[in-house]
Parts: sequence; structure tokens; C-alpha cells
Amino acid sequence: MIYTPESFILFSMEKQSLDTLWFKDAVFYELHVRTFKDSTEDGMGDFPGLISKLDYLARLGIDCIWLLPFFPSPLRDDGYDVSDFYNVHPDLGTLEDFKMFIKEAHKRGLRVIADMVFNHVSVEHNWFQEARQGPSNPKYNWFVWSQSSKKYSNARIIFSDIETSNWAWDPEVKAYYWHRFYNHQPDLNYENPEVREEMKKVVRFWLDLGLDGFRCDAVPYLFEKEGTKCENLPETHGFFKEVRAMMEQGYRDRILLAEANQWPTDTIEYFGDGDEFHMVFNFPLMPRIFMSLARANRQAIVDIIQQISNIPKNCQWATFLRNHDELTLEMVTTEEREFILTEYAKHQKMRINLGIRRRLAPLLDNDRLTMELLTALLLSLPGSPTIYYGDELGMGDNTYLGDRNGVRTPMQWSPDANAGFSEAVDPEYLYMPPVVNPSYHYESINVRTQEKMPYSFLNWNKKTIAIRKKSQAFGRGGFRVLGSENEKILAFLREYKDERVLCIFNLSRQPTFFHLDLSEFANLIPVEMANDTRFPRIKAERPYFFTLTGHRFMWFKIVEPHLAPPKSFE
Ligand code: BGC
Repeated sequence: MIYTPESFILFSMEKQSLDTLWFKDAVFYELHVRTFKDSTEDGMGDFPGLISKLDYLARLGIDCIWLLPFFPSPLRDDGYDVSDFYNVHPDLGTLEDFKMFIKEAHKRGLRVIADMVFNHVSVEHNWFQEARQGPSNPKYNWFVWSQSSKKYSNARIIFSDIETSNWAWDPEVKAYYWHRFYNHQPDLNYENPEVREEMKKVVRFWLDLGLDGFRCDAVPYLFEKEGTKCENLPETHGFFKEVRAMMEQGYRDRILLAEANQWPTDTIEYFGDGDEFHMVFNFPLMPRIFMSLARANRQAIVDIIQQISNIPKNCQWATFLRNHDELTLEMVTTEEREFILTEYAKHQKMRINLGIRRRLAPLLDNDRLTMELLTALLLSLPGSPTIYYGDELGMGDNTYLGDRNGVRTPMQWSPDANAGFSEAVDPEYLYMPPVVNPSYHYESINVRTQEKMPYSFLNWNKKTIAIRKKSQAFGRGGFRVLGSENEKILAFLREYKDERVLCIFNLSRQPTFFHLDLSEFANLIPVEMANDTRFPRIKAERPYFFTLTGHRFMWFKIVEPHLAPPKSFE
């Protein structure tokens, strides 16, 4: 099938009506409504602005948008501090705008999932304001209170740069309340059935408005139990299984995607027996990709994938390189963390908590070859890839903005004022300044400029996403590493039904050569997928010889000779 934008839309719409496993083939794109496109000149992105950019996303070839929290909020944690789960933040538009956005996205064959913050609310949420009236208020038991700040002392502190305790003193109630994140984000009390029912109601509310699912925020922390780390407790799994069961009832093609930043054995548990989350972010893999690259050695990637490849058939990993948070290094060893920090975050300003607050291009020293290498890994390793908005352009960051805001600057649409993001006359109206560092300045790193240049990083991304879409082996296929003595090389097969895709990556900066035993495919032809170039026939009697220059990769489909294109020379 040749992918014109029209056929892509038809294909996606057809899948939408038939396929409950659509998420296995999907490419996800993470964005914040506030950061994407302003339609009202107030310096903040909004739903109508986002609607005007849906054609861009369809052209890029993504299948599903993941919206960061867009609910009313005092914005002390970029919207993860929700003050009303049933509405849209007035800066971003109205519920009607949201509905229109869903309609327009679906019209283009794009699905939409949204962040849902189950674990906590803002101190400004009415529920907490009522709870503060004391134990006689029915909302009091919606939160976790204690007279002692020593309770649950085995629980770690996640925002370790800012917080010193998971308890905060409430002078009105004269008790401590529990919070796993900022002290202005009290945790909900999931022991209370009313809380569980209310949050299920919230889920149904948004699904009824047409949302295709949720990226569930901070899932490991819902329940607490003395003597434990208060993470990954069976009760937490139990709650999400209930949500899943509810979705199986009337929303069978919607998905739950877990943010569970945990050690591999705990992360994988969130798939349940195929009855909990459809997808889980692959936190175990992400830092190990960066480690393998810095070491120019495949082992870290191979080891982790082998540990976590056995997941239920109806589930899928969500792979990613970067997102709106720091590149988290919580779940690697101390030595590994030190190594990654030294390689990728030389200055203190680049670090926050236990991670690195940088975007993809700056992490990779703006080296186009390495950006292609890692993006191609993202697009071909098992799982469904998530692209963080702007990384398809190679956008830079600004580590001088506080918290994780340096990676949340306005999307760069054009070389015009305010990066084409907003027509606000005064640039200081913008919620955040666009990137003006000369290496990443919006005058050159922007959509309009890159769409015109055939070999821009944006066009490379479009082309590579389109190649991924030509073979379901990428989304649904098995994964087999092909051994080679040369550990700089990562070579693997993705196989699905009668499709076989061979992917080879040189993780080092130097040119290299290697042999692969492809004898099981004797007499078949490798066809390089980016250019449809026929390679020599595979022979049973000797290994196949490849060369790759530094940080290059190639993907091949392996086909019967009559299905291969003609030889390109002779
Ligand atoms: C989100 C963060 C947020 C935190 C607290 C997460 O894991 O990704 O951006 O600060 O939850 O809600």
C-alpha cells in the first residue's frame, strides 16, 4: 500500500471502527495544549489553536495524540495539580472547544488520549477545601491524614530537590496530610470507596465525550500500607483492574496507559494478565538506550528487552526517548546514574531531582546522525513509540527556566515573531519564551522552514514513520536479537505473520563491519526500506557481511526474490 495522506486517513478510520488493538500499530505524539498554538493572542496555546494544527499532525503520520492535563488548575505543577476534573482550564478553551477538537481529530483518523491524575488533586480543589473543614466534613476522609509525620516512613520522596517529607502540616485541620509529589498536591484516599467511585465517574465523563483513553499519571502510589514503600500495592492494581473492567463494558476500543516509573519486575506487573493496563511506558528501556549509546555497546538494551519481553498478547509497551519531565534515572543503579549524568548532563543546571531536564537534540549535542539513530531505534524496538512535541524538529531547550519548564517552551512553527506560536504583540505575554539559543533558534528550527527542506529532520521523521507503517511487524512482531561478535552493533529481527524486518544499528561513532548469520533466510533478498534498494541474495553457506558508518542504521525487509525490486545497477 502506498501511503498518501488520504489513504492513511482511510486506513486509520477503518481501523478505528474495527480494531481494539489499534494501539499496537500506533505512533503517539505527546503535547500540551498550552504549548502548541495560541489562537487568541493571549500568549497561551488553546484548543482552537490545536485544531488548526491537526493537519500538521496528520501529515507527520502520527496516530494518537496524548494531551497533558488540560483541566482547571492553579498550575503549580503544570496542570498535574487539578482543581476540577470535569472541565477545561479557561486559558485553553471550553468544554465545547474540547468536543470540537475531538471531532476534528477523529475526522482526520487521529485518536486522542489524555492525562488523568488519579493519585492527587490541587489544594485548591473543592474536595480538599471541604476536607479542611475537619473530620465532620464528608470530604475529610477523601484524603490521608495523620497526627504523626513518621507514618509510612519507608516511602521515598520523589521530588527530592524540593520536598523533605511526604507529609504536610495543615494548620486548619491540625493534622498532616499525605502527598507523594509537591506539598500542594494532597493524595486522594483510595481506601475510601467514594473516592474510587468518583474517579471512575470522571473516567466515564471523558470517555463519553469521545476520548480514546488515558495516560494514567503516577499509578503506583494510590494506596499506602505501613511497612511498605507505599508503591505497587495489590490494592492499587485492584483499582485499575476495576477501571479496566468498566471500560470493557462500553468502551472496548479505549485504552489505559500507565505511567509507572519502577524497576522492571514491578513495571511489567501493570499489564496484569491482560486485564489491567493496555499499555505501560517502557521506563526500564529508556535510560538504557542512552547508556548503550554512550558506551557504544548493545548489551544494556538487549539485556533489558530480554527481561521484559514477555507481556500478555493484548498489551503493548509504550516506548519513548523524552517527555515533558526530566529524563528520569530513578530506576538504574547508582553507578549507571553517575555514568549517564556525566555523559549527558555536564552542568548542574541540566539536572533536576534524579534526572536530566533536557530535550532530545541537546542531549545528543544536536548531532543529526545520532538523533536519527535514536529515533529509528524508538520506531523499531518492540512497543508503540511516543514522540514528544518539537523533538521531530530537533527543538532545543532552556535550562534556565525553573522546574522542568525548559523542555516545555512554545512549539516552533515558523521564523515569524514568537516562533509563529502566538500573535501576542508583547512577547512577554507568552507563557514561556521560545528558544533563541543560536543553535536551536526558532528562526531556523521550525515547521515551516523544515517542511520546505526535503532532507530536514522533520521530513526525515515523516518518511521514517511512513516506513514503519508499511510493516505491521514493527508494532506487532516478535523480537529476536541476532548475535554478532561486534558489540557496537545492535541487530534484530521483527517478525509478524509472513513479514520479516531486519534492523541494524551501529551504536558507535566509528565505521564498523560485521557478519550476521542469516542462513535461515537462504535465497531470500534483503531490501533496504528507506530507498527500496535490493541487496545481494542471502546464501546458506556463508554469513552475510555488512558495513555501517558511525551512528548509522538500516532497516531491511527480507523477501522472496520475485517480490524484491530489480537490481539498482548492472
Ligand atoms: C508527571 C509529572 C508530575 C507528577 C505529579 C508525573 O509523573 O509526569 O509531570 O509532576 O506526575 O503529578
